[in-house]
Amino acid sequence: MPDQPVSFARGAPAPELIPASELADCAHAVALREGASVFSYGPGGGYGPLREWVAERHGVESRRVVLTVGGLLGFVLYAGELLRRRPGRVLVEGPTYDRPLKVLAREGAEVVPLPMDDEGLDPDGLARELERNAAPASFLYTIPTFQNPSGRTLSAERRRRIVEIVTAHGLPVLEDDPYGLVRYEGEPQPSLHELEGGRLVTYTSSFSKTVAPGLRTGYFVLPEDEAEPFEERAVSTYISPPFLAQATIAEFIERGRFQPNLERVRDGLRARRDAMLGALERSFPATASWSRPQGGYFLWLDLGPGGDAASLAARAAEAGVAIVRGSDFFPPGSSAGTSAARLAFSFEPPERIADGIARLAELL
Ligand SMILES: Cc1ncc(COP(=O)(O)O)c(C=O)c1O
Repeated sequence: MPDQPVSFARGAPAPELIPASELADCAHAVALREGASVFSYGPGGGYGPLREWVAERHGVESRRVVLTVGGLLGFVLYAGELLRRRPGRVLVEGPTYDRPLKVLAREGAEVVPLPMDDEGLDPDGLARELERNAAPASFLYTIPTFQNPSGRTLSAERRRRIVEIVTAHGLPVLEDDPYGLVRYEGEPQPSLHELEGGRLVTYTSSFSKTVAPGLRTGYFVLPEDEAEPFEERAVSTYISPPFLAQATIAEFIERGRFQPNLERVRDGLRARRDAMLGALERSFPATASWSRPQGGYFLWLDLGPGGDAASLAARAAEAGVAIVRGSDFFPPGSSAGTSAARLAFSFEPPERIADGIARLAELL
């Protein structure tokens, strides 16, 4: 067994993918240049120059952009506001990112998982759910690109259909896209936000996967009339965000480091994804199947009919390999995902990935 367990559980970047010394230099420069303002309270919507950079990329006015303390806390603010304004069930992909499921459970929301397949969320499943229930749903939460946990990406055709369906029903959508820029092959897809025009769709992303998660900087591009209440919620929750972190990212961008760093991150992740896919193909039984993501951090393993991923996760932990069982990505009480597991390839180096997959294969 390796000294340290092999972690396929953590959706975190490998330390070598974080540009630490460049960020240290940027932080030092902005602290000296901007002085007390980056160590003080300030606008709840975040550091002006970074807000403007995001606004320009998304073709909106900067008052519609709120920089949040990580994307996840932004989710807490968004869900709280929507559930107050439009009480009702929250529609999610089945499976979906587990942390928002915990937030929604805490809010007491009814969560409805919608069917998805290799092409992402099934638009017919969404339409059926909306037609079956007369009461309006609160919002749809979707991660269309390199989804956490499945690594799947919604096809362009489905994106258009989903926009048609939510428009017909006036359903607000939260499009969570922290992995979209971390694409290492294939053609980028249009965002739901672009296709719909940002009236119902709120777009959120984060600098966690493109720069560094410890800077805790996410952002929300909100519909015209939702930006102000969202920002007020941020202010009443944490007064203002950490400006030094946001100004450090702005300086990193200003120095032209964003794109070259992204290329480096993509190369590092592609090598890790290839190591995992190669090892799965070499050693896993034909009854198992898995997604083949073109970007992001994760792939979704299905052990096939009767497969017991909870038992595999427990035995894998004893063998020094951490994985997350698929049922964690469905609402509590659901019986789905029992034969599946999420495997993150973002953290471990390629050699350890190959070793960890070989250990899992022995257990099967
Ligand atoms: C789909 C998705 N949304 C949001 C986040 C939150 O990112 P952060 O809070 O670091 O910005 C993550 C992190 O793993 C994620 O996978």
